[in-house]
Amino acid sequence: MNKEMSETLTRVGPGTLMGNLMRRYWVPALMSSEIAQPDGPQVRVPLLGEKLLAFRNSDGRACLIDEFCSHRGVSLYFGRNEENGIRCAYHGLKFNGDGQCVEVPSAPQACKNMHIKGYPCVERGGIVWAYMGPADKQPAPPELEWCVLPENQVYVTKRVQACSYLQAMEGGIDTAHVSYVHRYEVDNDPMHQGCKALDYIKADGNVVFEIEKNSFGLSLFGRRNGEPDSYYWRVTQWLFPWFTLIAPFGEHALGGHVWVPIDDHQCWAWSINWQPHGPLSDHELEAMRAGKGIHVEYEAPGSFVPRANASNDYLMDRVAQKEKRAYSGVFGFSAQDYSLQESMGPIQNHEAEKLLPTDRAIVMARRMLHDAATGLAQGIEPPALDSREQRVRPAGVLLPRDASPIEWARTHLADGLERPLYSI
Ligand code: FES
Ligand SMILES: [Fe+2]
Repeated sequence: MNKEMSETLTRVGPGTLMGNLMRRYWVPALMSSEIAQPDGPQVRVPLLGEKLLAFRNSDGRACLIDEFCSHRGVSLYFGRNEENGIRCAYHGLKFNGDGQCVEVPSAPQACKNMHIKGYPCVERGGIVWAYMGPADKQPAPPELEWCVLPENQVYVTKRVQACSYLQAMEGGIDTAHVSYVHRYEVDNDPMHQGCKALDYIKADGNVVFEIEKNSFGLSLFGRRNGEPDSYYWRVTQWLFPWFTLIAPFGEHALGGHVWVPIDDHQCWAWSINWQPHGPLSDHELEAMRAGKGIHVEYEAPGSFVPRANASNDYLMDRVAQKEKRAYSGVFGFSAQDYSLQESMGPIQNHEAEKLLPTDRAIVMARRMLHDAATGLAQGIEPPALDSREQRVRPAGVLLPRDASPIEWARTHLADGLERPLYSI
């Protein structure tokens, strides 16, 4: 990838091409549980290169405003969350959830000139989502399956990843790596073990990919040998601009991610599990709370920094690597991924990479993002703004050897939330 494209895709601050594009979608900002109580403690939210502050106001509404006071720039993190607004601790200016200044004790007439940024928020799937784009372009809220299910069917966590959202997200699109770095994890992990899918995955590491570009993003079809008369297809979805839905494993909860820039060099990696047809079991909840599956253990509660991180070589165990208990010596799906992705540097040197045929989906996703970002600057509306298009599922299915998975997906996964779940 050339320098221009690399920079366009990885610069996400206000006014950049990609930053402008991302601000046309609802952005996952923080977990609802981080601001559980009305008038409770406010939290800092770094997002898309901006420093923001989230709080729940007295009416129970989630609010996201600029972190800093318009008077002389004090952080409102040190302010008071009271009576439907945040009051700066320094000279008492008060801002409501829209960022409007509602009180200047020393000079009431100045109020109308003192506003700060405030972004509209919605809460779905246990996440506070913010809309950071032009007011007249606000799309309908997200409708991914995990956003619209009852609370007891969804489990959401996030973690800080020390690299660009792009190379983190490319790990979610690059399903070819599963047969390597995760090879020994699938059998032992409680959120993956004991399903037929693993037999097919392990028996055939030479995956053949088909890709379909569609209105919401990309559908990725990975083909492995199934039964003598069938192929086993794993269908992974990439939803523009940052969602991935993982092909399922038997009866286990479905899984997915959102890859959201904190700034150019770090991202929020959101991990979501959900059961489409009933509550998550106690067994599943226990495993996820312990950091199993696609979740992690944290360095300290509330830090969102994983315990296995660059400062401790991701707790890599060379003996486990030698004994084939962990392919890279790192344990845990997420740690296996982010250890390798962070090792590329905060922004990978894209000019030096030498891509292979298995990288075709990544190339297509980069192209779609680049086209949308540069197109927007020329007045072309971005794709996938209609949230109804997000009502799609991933799948794992055995199909006759002469069947086209793309045809199959058109009839069985389109408007997929109304259809049976395909998973083996
Ligand atoms: S700096 Fe906030 S009120 Fe003075
Ligand atoms: Fe992975």
